[in-house]
Amino acid sequence: MKGIILAGGLGTRLYPLTKVTNKHLLPIYDKPMIYYPIQTLVDAGIDDIMVVTGGNDAGDFLRLLGNGKEFGLKEISYAYQEGEGGIAAALSLAEHFAEGDQIVVILGDNLIEGNIKPFVERFRRQKSGARIILKEVPDPERFGVPVFRNNKIVRIEEKPKQPRSSYAVIGIYMYDRMVFDIIRPLKPSARGELEITDVNNAYIRKGNLAYDIIKGWWTDAGTFESLHRAGNLVAKKIKDR
Ligand code: G1P
Repeated sequence: MKGIILAGGLGTRLYPLTKVTNKHLLPIYDKPMIYYPIQTLVDAGIDDIMVVTGGNDAGDFLRLLGNGKEFGLKEISYAYQEGEGGIAAALSLAEHFAEGDQIVVILGDNLIEGNIKPFVERFRRQKSGARIILKEVPDPERFGVPVFRNNKIVRIEEKPKQPRSSYAVIGIYMYDRMVFDIIRPLKPSARGELEITDVNNAYIRKGNLAYDIIKGWWTDAGTFESLHRAGNLVAKKIKDR
């Protein structure tokens, strides 16, 4: 099992914080944002990790993370994304790295309170297909939202104006080797991106998408409000230890 952290993008929703640095290097309480998704993978027992990034500040990741010694890693792989293409476009850069293994993909601005290890173990036993993680949220319209029929996800809608459930698809995705074949024919969405939701819908059509519901808090950190919330949640977690 390999881990892939997507840490590219322009972070325009956080401008001017992201004018001279990458979003994933901004502080969340006492650490740079990227530390949290790395720790999430390491806590799940994944030690073969690639960071996909881009932009002018890509070199800063190497200086900050090096070979990942702080996380007990022997090395970290890096890929450089030219321009902006969306989550699925960034993921496609990891095809060689994946070498046909199962992968766990995490968005560099997604933080969780708990541990995804049980979900990753279930995915390992699943052998093929995809596995996503859901969290009940007060504002599903900001995210990918699952539509259920008899407890099965029949499709995922990306940022629907009228959400059909109160769950968000969080930015941690597990895929088999087919994911790269699924990405290749994708066309950009209205916001000009190759959408990860289109990838997940392709797995649903094949009848091969499982899901778990995560306990404990989850947040992204890509807007001023969620960045602030993430800092507070981490601070509280440290204080409560
Ligand atoms: C992306 C995905 C969305 C998902 C979210 C999780 O949204 O498109 O489906 O729920 O990450 O953080 P974005 O951050 O690109 O708006």
